[in-house]
Amino acid sequence: MDYTVMMPAAGSGTRMGAGHNKLFLELNGKTILAHTLVVFQQDPWCTGIILAIKEDERAKIEMIIEQEQITKIRALPEGGSERQHSVKACLAAHQSGGIVLVHDAARPFIAKQVIHELATCALLHGAAVAGVKAKDTMKYVTDGIIEETADRERLWVIQTPQAFRYEILEEASLRAEKERFLGTDEAMLAEHAGYEVRIVESTYDNIKMTTPEDLAYGGYLLKKRLEETI
Ligand code: CTP
Ligand code: MG
Repeated sequence: MDYTVMMPAAGSGTRMGAGHNKLFLELNGKTILAHTLVVFQQDPWCTGIILAIKEDERAKIEMIIEQEQITKIRALPEGGSERQHSVKACLAAHQSGGIVLVHDAARPFIAKQVIHELATCALLHGAAVAGVKAKDTMKYVTDGIIEETADRERLWVIQTPQAFRYEILEEASLRAEKERFLGTDEAMLAEHAGYEVRIVESTYDNIKMTTPEDLAYGGYLLKKRLEETI
């Protein structure tokens, strides 16, 4: 089977504090963006990559695409002020239907097996997102006082990729826009539109490079993977 991946890469990386888009930071001599692109370039199920970017970073990103020999790029639309707007720009650039995956450019450690399970699940059921079981006890707190302890058995930490039949994501996105509903992930838009969204169990190392300590852990993960393949 095949899928198209939509990759929002038009953020600012404020929490990373690098003073520029964190996707240009390097892990083992290669940018975070390059690491993530290579995963999909190398996956035979992936037939196209649509990357939402900032206009003033276009030249730099085109250079990375060329250097890494990423041949699956179908479009490089301009992203928006919120992640959801960047994903919308990807959707607008997508020509055909099929299965679409939305994946943060800032998650370079996604496993191919999880990608394939997500694509298969979306084909069968319409919508599926990657997640891991919560490890910690979680509580609802208001004004510094605990109100309630959440039932950990039912708590999942949600990641990307998030996979959909194209028509579902398109409808959910249009509806969110019409109703001015802003979600923090695509699943929220699909849930809002009344769709059932399934969870595919992912791995704890599919981290989003968000703060400086993630860089150190990311470097460790990469080193471990390289050692494993030797
Ligand atoms: N993203 C995007 N457009 C935006 C905001 C984010 O395409 N307006 C992308 C980022 O480039 C990243 C992914 O969405 O690949 C996940 O977002 P996040 O980790 O929050 O990245 P940033 O928004 O760049 O970081 P921060 O929130 O710390 O500023
Ligand atoms: Mg952000």
